[in-house]
Amino acid sequence: MTPQQDHQDPRTAPWLNQAGRNASRKFGEYRTFLNTAVRNPRMVGAATPTSAAVAATVAQVVPTTGSPVVVELGPGTGSLSNGIHARLPHGARHIGIELGEDMVEHLRRHKPWLEVVHADAGDLLALLDKRGIDRVDAVISSIPWSLMPGSAQDHVLRQAAEALAPQGAFTALTYLPADQTPGGRRFRNRLEHVFDEVLTHTTWRNLPPILHYICRRPLQ
Ligand SMILES: C[S@@+](CC[C@H](N)C(=O)[O-])C[C@H]1O[C@@H](n2cnc3c(N)ncnc32)[C@H](O)[C@@H]1O
Repeated sequence: MTPQQDHQDPRTAPWLNQAGRNASRKFGEYRTFLNTAVRNPRMVGAATPTSAAVAATVAQVVPTTGSPVVVELGPGTGSLSNGIHARLPHGARHIGIELGEDMVEHLRRHKPWLEVVHADAGDLLALLDKRGIDRVDAVISSIPWSLMPGSAQDHVLRQAAEALAPQGAFTALTYLPADQTPGGRRFRNRLEHVFDEVLTHTTWRNLPPILHYICRRPLQ
């Protein structure tokens, strides 16, 4: 019996206990996220994790057969990771590269199926090489692209493009107003220089709404 269950009244309906556990888990996730965001606003670039609706859209680029390798850049507290994990076939590798120490701790405690790497997305190729991975099927990124200098955007984008398998997909998320900032416009422009295909999709069921970029066929 976990300490959490210890405090539950045995007369309470099981569904109510379950609802209490879910609420407490969600609260812990929000607290970790917000604490990190307050300390490092430019690193996190958001006040709350993205919604399940965003995760469901993001997860569509993930292969459901074979033994794919999927890399998440900036998984945070794992709000996208759940949706991705739910779609991945048995035998897939799901790697999360996260810079925030508290986020990493949270992921290791709550998402044991995720290979969590405490590192910078800017070291992507070296991190993959160290793990014996030479091709990935999807790179899913929610690092704060529009707040990054152009050189840092380029540095990570080029590595993501180089890591992708020929049929692989790269996705990036930005908040809807952020795509109109100078950093957001610069990022879109760079995407169009790095990928042959750049599609967009908006998820309105998130506050603020999320703009997804879905990119394929890296240009040489
Ligand atoms: C906007 S949050 C997104 C978190 C989560 N994926 C979500 O959708 O709620 C951005 C995350 O990227 C992480 N991050 C920022 N820059 C990074 C970098 N260069 N390498 C790895 N992670 C980074 C932050 O610590 C934060 O957890």
